[in-house]
Amino acid sequence: MCGIIGILGSAPAAPRLVQALKRLEYRGYDSAGVATLEGGRIERRRAPGKLANLELELAGAPLSGVSGIGHTRWATHGAPTTANAHPHATDKVAIVHNGIIENFRSLREGLAKAGHEFASETDSEVIAHLITDGLDNGLTPEQAAIAAVRRLEGAFGIACLFAGEEDVLIGARKGSPLAVGIGDGEMFLGSDAIAVSPFTTRVMFLEEGDIAILSRARAKILDANGQVVTRQIHVFSGAAAAVEKGNHRHFMQKEIYEQPETSGRTITRYVNAFDERVEMPDLDGVDLAADNAIVIGCGTAHYAGRVAEYWLEQVAGIAVETDIASEFRYRKPAFGRKSFAVFVSQSGETADTLAALRYCKDQGVKTLAVVNVPESTIWREADARLPTLAGPEIGVASTKAFTAQLSALAALAIATGRARGAISSQEEGRLVRALMETPRMIAQALDSEPKIEAIAHELSQARDVLYLGRGVHYPLALEGALKLKEISYIHAEGYAAGELKHGPIALIDEGTPVVVLAPHDSLFEKTLSNMQEVAARGAKLILITDSAGAAAASDIAKHLILAPACDPFIAPLVYSVPIQLLAYLTAVHKGTDVDQPRNLAKSVTVE
Ligand code: F6R
Repeated sequence: MCGIIGILGSAPAAPRLVQALKRLEYRGYDSAGVATLEGGRIERRRAPGKLANLELELAGAPLSGVSGIGHTRWATHGAPTTANAHPHATDKVAIVHNGIIENFRSLREGLAKAGHEFASETDSEVIAHLITDGLDNGLTPEQAAIAAVRRLEGAFGIACLFAGEEDVLIGARKGSPLAVGIGDGEMFLGSDAIAVSPFTTRVMFLEEGDIAILSRARAKILDANGQVVTRQIHVFSGAAAAVEKGNHRHFMQKEIYEQPETSGRTITRYVNAFDERVEMPDLDGVDLAADNAIVIGCGTAHYAGRVAEYWLEQVAGIAVETDIASEFRYRKPAFGRKSFAVFVSQSGETADTLAALRYCKDQGVKTLAVVNVPESTIWREADARLPTLAGPEIGVASTKAFTAQLSALAALAIATGRARGAISSQEEGRLVRALMETPRMIAQALDSEPKIEAIAHELSQARDVLYLGRGVHYPLALEGALKLKEISYIHAEGYAAGELKHGPIALIDEGTPVVVLAPHDSLFEKTLSNMQEVAARGAKLILITDSAGAAAASDIAKHLILAPACDPFIAPLVYSVPIQLLAYLTAVHKGTDVDQPRNLAKSVTVE
């Protein structure tokens, strides 16, 4: 989304801020800016476009202060102009922000009524004004920052610099990563360890809900409950920082926890939050107003495509066919006259997916790649592309790439609905608003880890596990079973909940674990009947649902995993989290090689 950096240093901050921002440009380069304290006063330099423009700005009007913050922007709310570039500031505080403040409209209205004047169209600027409000009411910088953060809804990483406070820098993390770099008599904040690696090798990673109050001598960390906590200090070389696990035991765990950030980054790439519209890049001849769509991928990427099948049909009313890439071309599929084909791939190098893409191109069908690795073969060969912005995925089992694929495909479904005249602008606005809630909902779903941990301990003893889902949760059941088998080596199968009685129910035995994905939506009652069928035959039900679903099924479920109540449209994104955590924690209990499970490879370049 965006990159942030903060410095309490002993040398001029501006050149160091720019140096760090160069390492963060991969997170966005729509605009860049820095703010430093010059004799206690906040001074800013900002420029649209790449960092080189900011460097020119600084060359013309240098800054010499030793305390400062910087930002490189991936535009979400508001065009990439100088006015919308961070840092946003009042005469008392300057802030940089990465993420989305969901309740910015209501906060902004309230602040405007109280006399605050806004200079940008961003969601971020409310943070500066909220903090200023606290300072105006006599709070200290620490108190004002804490009070402001408590009022923010959404996902964010923030750094704040205060006028007249040469030795205070405050950072906060909720859903977007933030690291504290500890130097010799200096202190740093950065979106990742790479940002601060030119200045120090000692780094602490903030946890969800943490607020860091930094001075040059001390880093005080408050957790989500306001308690002072310590966070482990990691020491690495600059090179190691590029691919580090942070506080996490495995890359897979880290990548699961990155999902508020990676889904948000992907969604905001395709969504104009101000106009509540989806904005697609130039699709180079791919006409979304088609009669048919074909969605192809392998493994997890295929399951993302299967979720998209429901979305495209329900939202856009388009006829959709999905298939696994390794079989698709052997069918010699026929195409309607107005079709487009979507190829979903993390690596962009999967041989079967590439072969299917080439088949479609040979048949004259326009191709669209939903790919994570830029410039990969599928990326290059497709007619058009919708990048997923998950960043490098190191764990072999795909997690954040899956939810990033879902994020891009959800936006594609809305865009197709509009192109085909299937949805009104009001309905588009409603879907966009729901989509924008995804990072926060995913962050809430991550809170279920302690509960899942206890269940995973029991599940690690199982020989076979069934996963059930209905509607859009059926492909998610398939994905849940795939995650479990590939990293824990426990046999698992996903079924459509209504299909079980046509055969697989014979597998149910006393104590067979059955994981059911069932939010309390329009299909819940039917799935409840299927749960009763398996419970009556001795199955041990692990139900993943929301609070309404839990109330309705608590008597038959042995275990309940609570997911936040959310709009049904984004439920597949939110329910991805518990199935990933369940597989991950079960594998940890079994002691398998989670990040590099046996027999697998991250990029499958053979057919
Ligand atoms: C499972 C997994 C695989 C991949 C599949 C396709 O966790 O990662 O099933 O989804 O091999 O790979 P990509 O997406 O690179 O085409």
